[in-house]
Amino acid sequence: MQIELQHITKRFGQVLANDDVSITVQAGSIHGLLGENGAGKSTIVKVLSGFISRDSGSVLLDGQTANIKTPADAIRSGVGMLHQDPLDFPPLSVLDNFVVGRGEVLAKGFLSGLKLVNLDRARQELLRLTEAFNFSLNPDDRVSDLSVGERQQLEMIRLLSLGVKTLILDEPTTGISASQKTALFEAARRLASEGKSVIFVSHKLEDVEELCDRVTVMRAGKIVGNAEIPCPDSVLIDLIFGKELAPPIKPNTTQSQPMLELTNLVVKDDRLTLKMGDFTAHRGEVIGLAGLEGSGQQLLLLLCAGLTRPLRGKIAIDRLDMTQKPYAQYLKQGIGYSPADRLKDGLIRGLSIHEHVILRHPNQKLFIDWKSTHQNALEAIAMFNIRGKPNSHVERLSGGNQQRTQLALLPVPLNLLLMEHPTRGLDIESTLWVWQQLIARCQTGTTILFMSSDLDEIMQYSDRVLVFSGGQVSDPIAASKLTAEKLGQMIGGRFE
Ligand SMILES: Nc1ncnc2c1ncn2[C@@H]1O[C@H](COP(=O)(O)OP(=O)(O)OP(=O)(O)O)[C@@H](O)[C@H]1O
Ligand SMILES: [Mg+2]
Repeated sequence: MQIELQHITKRFGQVLANDDVSITVQAGSIHGLLGENGAGKSTIVKVLSGFISRDSGSVLLDGQTANIKTPADAIRSGVGMLHQDPLDFPPLSVLDNFVVGRGEVLAKGFLSGLKLVNLDRARQELLRLTEAFNFSLNPDDRVSDLSVGERQQLEMIRLLSLGVKTLILDEPTTGISASQKTALFEAARRLASEGKSVIFVSHKLEDVEELCDRVTVMRAGKIVGNAEIPCPDSVLIDLIFGKELAPPIKPNTTQSQPMLELTNLVVKDDRLTLKMGDFTAHRGEVIGLAGLEGSGQQLLLLLCAGLTRPLRGKIAIDRLDMTQKPYAQYLKQGIGYSPADRLKDGLIRGLSIHEHVILRHPNQKLFIDWKSTHQNALEAIAMFNIRGKPNSHVERLSGGNQQRTQLALLPVPLNLLLMEHPTRGLDIESTLWVWQQLIARCQTGTTILFMSSDLDEIMQYSDRVLVFSGGQVSDPIAASKLTAEKLGQMIGGRFE
């Protein structure tokens, strides 16, 4: 399906999120959409998929003007979108989620809202599509137990079964495993070969190079260029940011004193038992935790934060035994935690940046000093270059700006900083910038443990790496001795 977005403009209050945006996507092609955080990528694809109404401009599908006002209109016109944050119903089963939006209308007139779904037929369709795309979905699993990659697979086949001919993928490779990425890319290529079109929004140039035929680059709400792929990274970076970026540098910040000492640990949650030999992280050191999602990395971070207790073994932070201490004691001991799911665990929907700053501010107990905390919020916004205002609600910020807000709220100084996917959703410049900030913290003695599904990030910024596989943990390995290939093998469970 050929898509023509013509002169689309969209304003949110004072923010001009899309400023006269025109993009043409050819049928049978995979079209990349690049741009820094807040550039307007999600906005334009949400306009196309009916989640946002445009102020002006038009959408043509195969040359015909399309009247898309709602997501249901878009799906009827053949356009479906996978969102940056999944929009499924986690308490329901895979099959129940699959049938959302389906069904045959039972009656006309005021009863036309009543629809009948044939669950047996839906189950067969689900299994057929799962197999055709080499996905791994079980109709009876609960969606809350699925990984991000599996939820994405489910949404993708749901949209395809509704007859979608254009699929929009908004940052689909953040948080999925390497094999899920391979399956996703194969599925996208297959759709393109069938004459469907795919719009691929991403910050990862290597993914764009691998998958796309052509890219459009946006900056501050405007289109700043188009390029055929292959295209050198330096050219794309120049288009995205309007300047060259210096390569990252990781100085050695490790000191000799121990900061985190783990002794003979066994930790359990309802899915996994994590067993670990003795391990010490030093002051100023960066420890990367690699592994497939759910292999025990998060459990270790939760344990180090005092948010879960070990079944056996000991944990000491800055030489103080913390094993049975309450969470408040961990906070006193200088731990900070940055979770992956920003809007669920990190920030509070409905509250503004200013209100988040107030919640974080140690002096605001009984009375709130709105004036000084407003100033604090302005400072956080300026320092972390957040595209938003003190009164911006966090759920309205772009994905990358939510991450910046979360980072801006971490206390200073800290002994131990525990991070899930520190740069998930951030553009390349922001990723470099965040790591500069983190390295600066290490230089003042903070120890960082971070998990990431981005192997380059693990190798680039860790001093040592622990690899997790099904609750087993490798011996620590110096990052300088790792290759992507070796790390990939270890993640697959080959520790020798
Ligand atoms: N619902 C909304 N209300 C107010 N402002 C919004 C809303 N949605 C987006 N914006 C603003 O519009 C601008 C563009 O946001 P958009 O989400 O399109 O960026 P993006 O290019 O997808 O960024 P990212 O890479 O961080 O996901 C940002 O300044 C954002 O804060
Ligand atoms: Mg976005």
